[in-house]
Amino acid sequence: VDLKPYNTLNISARARYFATIESESQLKEVLRHPKTEGLKIMVLGGGSNVLFADDFDGLILHIEIKGREVVKENDEYVWLKIGAGENWHQAVRYCVEKGWGGIENLSLIPGTVGAAPIQNIGAYGVELEEVFEWLEAVDIEGRETRRYEKGDCNFGYRDSIFKGELKGVVIVTNVVLKLSKNPELNTSYGAIQSEIEKRNIDELTIRDISDIVIDIRNSKLPNPDLLGNAGSFFKNSIVENDVFERIKMEYPEAPGYEMGDQKMKVPAGWLIEEAGWKGKVVGNTGTYKQQALVIVNHGGATGGEILNLADQIKESVEEQFGIALVPEVNIVSSDGKV
Ligand code: EPU
Repeated sequence: VDLKPYNTLNISARARYFATIESESQLKEVLRHPKTEGLKIMVLGGGSNVLFADDFDGLILHIEIKGREVVKENDEYVWLKIGAGENWHQAVRYCVEKGWGGIENLSLIPGTVGAAPIQNIGAYGVELEEVFEWLEAVDIEGRETRRYEKGDCNFGYRDSIFKGELKGVVIVTNVVLKLSKNPELNTSYGAIQSEIEKRNIDELTIRDISDIVIDIRNSKLPNPDLLGNAGSFFKNSIVENDVFERIKMEYPEAPGYEMGDQKMKVPAGWLIEEAGWKGKVVGNTGTYKQQALVIVNHGGATGGEILNLADQIKESVEEQFGIALVPEVNIVSSDGKV
């Protein structure tokens, strides 16, 4: 199977086996199948956070488990269970229509609901963990359904237990979010604030926030349907205060956000821009002209080419700032993760 339609970087790569999963029972059946025995397994949702550096010599499970169901409700909250294969943005808009608040700042993030907790998606001042209640997953070895409460998930910045010790151990099938019927709006992010001021809105609603986030994202981030990309390619860098102080001496305008614990978060997009990569075209690849943190496929790029560019960027940022960028996308080699 050519994986090009299944990854937003539009990389052509082959998978030895490919299965579409529409239900939990189907998932268990495939895991039980004799042909699955001994195969390397990779789960694919929307393919919006993955780089196929090579062909994949194993079985890809494309999760298409659907469903939205209120599993609990009181005067203030609804607990909404969503199938892992649902499109994230459609789920957000569904909640916005219903007036259920909590994820409107996460509008237009590409990918599926099942992928959201894996990297604790975040944008415009909100992270998934703030509304996350529990998820259901099937463990690959025992083919049993397990439930993980928020406290089990070790959520961090673009991180969770599912990227760590549970990587390759469980497959997410459903996610439950706790959403508010009387939403408090999160307008902490500067770009949202300035849009609100511009728009002259009387009574701000979650729909306004969602619309604003959609507009900001459309203006800054390339639409993967038009230009192959996987969003931020690297994580923002978390450095010790003194490292940031050193950078500030040479670059007084360097942006940074306090993280507590003597640490600062430095936007990787800024580091990459300062290193001269913003909007640069290298063969079929390059960085996006509006956002240096996004690596794009101008058409026909191979996974190797993208990886090569990422390595070059990483090297030059390291040389200039002494900061080692960490990829945010999952890089997949023939036998699994790089
Ligand atoms: N910046 C530059 N040059 C650039 C890009 C950014 O100098 O080319 C500077 C900006 O001036 C700004 C700062 O970096 O001061 C932050 O930029 P931005 O607001 O665009 O956000 P980001 O830190 O680059 C993060 C997330 C995005 C998320 C936005 C909004 C990560 C790795 N990325 O990007 O998430 O949408 O904040 O909350 O944390 C993703 O994960 O794929 C993603 C797009």
